[in-house]
Amino acid sequence: MNELDSEIMIGQLEQRGMHRIDDEETADLLIFNTCSIRDLAERKVMGKVGRMAKPNYRKHHRPLIGITGCMANAKKEKLFQKLPHIDFVLGTNNIHDLNNVLDEVLSSGTKVFRTADNFTHELDYQSAKRDDKLKAHISIIRGCDKFCTYCVVPYTRGPEVSRDPESIVLECQKLALEGYKEITLLGQNVNSYGKDKPEWNALFHDLLYRLNDIDGIERIHFMTSHPVDITRELMEAIRDLPKVCEFVHFPLQAGSNRILRKMHRIYTLEQYLEKVAMLREIVPNVALGTDIIVGFPTETDAEFEETRRMLEEIKYDTLFAFGYSQRQGTPAARWVDDVPEEIKQERLQILLKQQGGIDAAIRQKLLNTEMEILITEVSDRQPGFVKGRTRCWKNAILPGDNSMIGTLKKITINGYSNQTLLGA
Ligand code: 5AD
Ligand code: SF4
Repeated sequence: MNELDSEIMIGQLEQRGMHRIDDEETADLLIFNTCSIRDLAERKVMGKVGRMAKPNYRKHHRPLIGITGCMANAKKEKLFQKLPHIDFVLGTNNIHDLNNVLDEVLSSGTKVFRTADNFTHELDYQSAKRDDKLKAHISIIRGCDKFCTYCVVPYTRGPEVSRDPESIVLECQKLALEGYKEITLLGQNVNSYGKDKPEWNALFHDLLYRLNDIDGIERIHFMTSHPVDITRELMEAIRDLPKVCEFVHFPLQAGSNRILRKMHRIYTLEQYLEKVAMLREIVPNVALGTDIIVGFPTETDAEFEETRRMLEEIKYDTLFAFGYSQRQGTPAARWVDDVPEEIKQERLQILLKQQGGIDAAIRQKLLNTEMEILITEVSDRQPGFVKGRTRCWKNAILPGDNSMIGTLKKITINGYSNQTLLGA
């Protein structure tokens, strides 16, 4: 989501004649598009921007410095106290205002902040400046209404606001004409799409049917799905629409009912497993992804063991596991962060090791099967080979050359390395 917001901001800056450069030392403007999801992400930004306060930092050509993204919303104008040398703070719901804010900073020389709690302005998605020429992220719903007790997102991004389906279809048609092949529909909870705008009569699966019809787009991914909102209609859309890829990222977060309740995930383990079973029945070759938090306040060894067992049972294709990080302003911040960091790290290592074995078993099963690869680049390490991805986000490498980039090719898997499938 942040990468896409950065692409939208770069598009806006290009409209005023600026362009992106890689060299921090000569840039006129530095924008830190930040994440608040865990403490480490925030600390990195505070450290990096903090070092720019030193009097000798680029003293002959001081750049303008702006903080955007979730930290801007979480800390608002307080950021000016901690980082007095920054020029502006622009929240996730004010991206459309970037050029106005820059004008104000330049003309008045004062610090400016805009950090609205709600998303009310349609963004200029059409001008987003993407580096990738084949794959594009598309924002379809912003914000989150779920209020999991550990999570800052409902506070930093505000309530759910769906984007007009006509605008989404138009953007995807334009991207198809430009040669894009793969789109990833983004939202904190894509399954809520359209619920805030009943007059549109367009829920998430309806949108998928419309996007599937766009000539030129070959693949449609989406993330993230809250388990509660996954519907039978969505599962059937994945089964029936040829371009919609058979991959669902729907985070479990924890394998114990007590912890799930304390997290306010609003499902039980049993309800979650029912969704997994239904999904696997309707879409037999579906690949699943999950996020897990270990060391949530009061999580015992036995409760962690329940999480480990669940992962062993479900066998996800992708796992993102995180140590719990206390976030100011969330309900969970009222509880003592009582699982020591070493235990969190230990639990993470156990999950990652187990997942390594599951990954290898999944890849082993793929041997001699046929898979469709979207070829995205030539391999720089192995001359005569090209790289791409399967429909379920797995990396693959196969013999080929430049002329195959942007095409889909069916290959038979004949081997695999740690992270990559091999085929021909
Ligand atoms: N601590 C650790 N992980 C978190 N996530 C969200 N908030 C926190 C937190 N406070 C994780 C969740 C979510 C993913 C994007 O980040 O697993 O699904
Ligand atoms: Fe955060 Fe996701 Fe829960 Fe929303 S559903 S509060 S984004 S973890």
